[in-house]
Parts: sequence; structure tokens; C-alpha cells
Amino acid sequence: MYYIGVDLGTSSVKLVLMEETGEIKNIVAKEYPLHFPKPGWSEQEPKDWYDQFAVGIQELLFGIDRKEVDGISFGGQMHGLVMLDEKDHVLRPAILWNDGRTQEECDYLNQVIGREKVSSCTANMALTGFTAPKLLWVKKHEPEIFEKIAKIMLPKDYLAYCLTGVHSTDVSDASGMLLFDVKNRCWSKEMLEIVGVREEQLAKVYESYEVVGTLTEEASKKLDLPLGVRVIAGAGDNAAGAVGTGTLAHGMCSVSLGTSGTVFIATDKFAVDDKNAMHSFAHANGKYHFLGCMLSAASANKWWMDEIIGTKEYAKEQQGITKLGENQVFFLPYLMGERTPHNNPCARGTFVGMTMDTTREDMTEAVLEGVTFALRDALEIARSFGVQIDRVRLNGGGAKSPLWCRMVANIMNVKVDKINSEEGPGFGAAILAAVGCKKFASVEEAAQKLIRVVETTEPEPELVEKYEKKYQVFRQIYPALVPVYKEMVHSLES
Ligand code: XUL
Repeated sequence: MYYIGVDLGTSSVKLVLMEETGEIKNIVAKEYPLHFPKPGWSEQEPKDWYDQFAVGIQELLFGIDRKEVDGISFGGQMHGLVMLDEKDHVLRPAILWNDGRTQEECDYLNQVIGREKVSSCTANMALTGFTAPKLLWVKKHEPEIFEKIAKIMLPKDYLAYCLTGVHSTDVSDASGMLLFDVKNRCWSKEMLEIVGVREEQLAKVYESYEVVGTLTEEASKKLDLPLGVRVIAGAGDNAAGAVGTGTLAHGMCSVSLGTSGTVFIATDKFAVDDKNAMHSFAHANGKYHFLGCMLSAASANKWWMDEIIGTKEYAKEQQGITKLGENQVFFLPYLMGERTPHNNPCARGTFVGMTMDTTREDMTEAVLEGVTFALRDALEIARSFGVQIDRVRLNGGGAKSPLWCRMVANIMNVKVDKINSEEGPGFGAAILAAVGCKKFASVEEAAQKLIRVVETTEPEPELVEKYEKKYQVFRQIYPALVPVYKEMVHSLES
């Protein structure tokens, strides 16, 4: 039998076709546009997701006996606000995870309602990318739309709805809405009241490996798939990526270099840190996890390559970068503002330290290093709780670069494991589909049978030392620039 894992990302939807043995038979990616209607805003059309998914499915299944497809599941970009009216029509473009328009609403939740109160209801504080502050923004700025909301959905759950007609979500993705009682894995009645939404406007919550439904007649016809294909709830892309890298046991850590950059730590028990410095979310295996998320990781490199130096030859650009730890240029990757650790939508991308002999390679190297330093900031928060992290599993597009893997190993001083699939969330989603269809007794059993480490990059003591010095300089740049960013954004963008 076959299982389809759908990684509904920010730049594309990636489909993974997995056999029950874990072998990946095919991978297809279909891009769609991302819109930035104002600086710091980020939106997408839910219709584009489903259309491109449907096109991708045909390519994915070329030459495959479609009766052999048993289940479909998802890993989806988290936090995005999709609003449906009573006829299930999309009310406006989705407001995405990296959208920074809701500072005022976050200030209201964290300061007027109070961070402790919000955290006691949801295990998290309000952050601009999260869903609840976006609902408050729509209530204030687009009241005619707010009035019409019949269902509030997350991106991957909108796809599941298109396939099954069921309004569902899963515990890991629901955790990022700031409406969910993470500890008890149910909607928080108090938080719903604070935001002014009713429980019937929210989807039914499932564990990530549970079956939500089967294909509707319409979806079955459109996709040319049997009606009986099961749709499994799936997970937010970070939890799905953690399933796909086998980051399940207590204390295991994975790092993702995708559009966002994340540090993910699996925990057996529910916990919240007293400053809400890391997100505390439900995991896709029935347990919990901590997450630190920076907003521009591989996307900062993509911006630098595609938009600024104008090339698609990423590997070639990196070939000339051989002598690590010597670069004098620093890059702050805050192109969409920053979440962990600064929680500042006004932060901006910044190069510092160029001289007349700075080369193109130095700038490229600075971008890769800057993203890795910023990710280390998130890792250091986890270390400050006493979590020992000396080994990580790497996934996301950036993990394909051996140079970037080496930087992660040396800047974070960790062993970096690569596993047998590079498809993180897509592979994890396919595994969740197989668990939902009872091919495996649990997520853990599936991971144990299907995932193995194939390569480890070790930290090099001399380079670790050089990067430690650079990291200490990097850490001083952002605080020095905070007043400048604030002034810049307020005077230039108002
Ligand atoms: C996690 C987050 C991002 C998105 C990217 O909190 O916002 O990792 O899920 O797709």
C-alpha cells in the first residue's frame, strides 16, 4: 500500500509517496505565490494550495495503481488564519505565520489581559504570528469579515476539509493558535471568550495520527482517487518534521532550516518556561514539545541568492567558501522581523562589518552564518533550562548543503545527524498516514522501523572556538540596533 505525505509549505506544497516499507517512491513540489501587501505582512490564497496540491497529485501518482493508495496526511505551515463563511467559502486571503501586523493585539493580550493569564490558558504568550491576535486584528480592521466567520481553520486543515468535507485540526497545529489548552489537549473556553469566538467556529480536534474522514465524491473525482482513501489529521510542519526525523524520545532535538528556522525539543511531560521564551506545544505522538522559531532561515539565503545576487546555483555559490570561521562580515537575518528570541516585528535584515576587500563569498557566508547564529540563540534558551543538547537531527531545504551542516555543527557545538530521508515534514506526514491506517501500532513503532541515521557531522574543536568568539560579537549587534529598527519602521513605514 502507499501513503501520501503532504508538506504544505510557504513557498510550495511538497508531496511524498511512501510505500509501507518506508521507501519513498516519488516526490513532487508545486510552487504558489506568497503576497506581501505591506511591509511585514504575509498572505496566501487557500485556493492556490488546493489547486497546486491537485496538480501535484497527478504527477506524484503517474504510473501508480491508485487502488493501492491507503491514506493521506499532512504537515502544514502553522498559525495561518483561514476564515470560512457559512457556505465554507474562504472570506479573505490567509494571514500567515510570518505576518507581523498584530503587535497592538499582542500587546493587548500580553499586557492588558496579561501574559500569565494567557499562558495559564494556552501555555504560550501572544506572538504576532499566532492565530488569536490575527482574529483580534480582523475584528478591529475588517469587522464585516469577522461577522461572517463560520469556521476558523489552519492551512493544512483547509486542505483536509477540501478532501473530506470535515472541519478538523490536530493537537500540534491547534497549539499554535493561542486558543488551545495545550496541557489538556482541548480548546480553552476562557481564551475563546477573551478573543470573542465560539467553540462551534473552531474545528474538531484530533490526535495527529487519527483518521478524520475519507474522500468526498467531488475530491475523489477531481483527484482520480478511490472514495475509500483515508485522510489522517496530520500535524504542524515542525511536529510532522520531528516525526519524519524520529525526534520523539524525551530530550531529543531537531533543527529545521526551512523557510523558517526552528529548534524542536521533544518532551514526555507537559511543561512551560516561566518567561514563555519557547513555545510549548503538543507533539504528534501524543506527547509534548518545546519550539523556538526564527522567521527567515533558508528563505534569507533564497532572498540573497535569487533577489540580490540573481542566481539559482546555490551549491556553486557555496563552493568557494572553504575557510570557515574567518569571515569579518555579520548578517542579521531579520527580513520579516523576528520571533524567537526577540519577538520584534520591527527588526530588519542587516549586514555589518564590510570593508573594501569583502567578497561576494564573504557576504554569502555571512548569510548562512547569520541564520545559524540566530538559531543558536533559540538553542541557548533551551540550554538555559538545563536541557543538554549535544546532538541534533537536521531537516529542511538548507540541510541539503554540506557547508550549512558544518556551520550548524560548529556554531552550535553539536553532532549533526542526517537521516535516511531529507523530506522532514512530508515524510513525517506519510508516516502519520501509515499509523492512522494501522500499518504500525504507534508513531514510535513506525519511526523505529522506518528511520535511521545515515551520516553524522562532528563539530571540529578549533572551529567551534572561532565561532564561539564570532557568536559573542553577533549577540551584541541586535541590542545595539533595537532603537534604530524602531525609528526606521515608524518613520519610514508610517
Ligand atoms: C512555527 C512557525 C513556522 C511555520 C513554518 O511556530 O511559525 O515554523 O510553521 O511553516
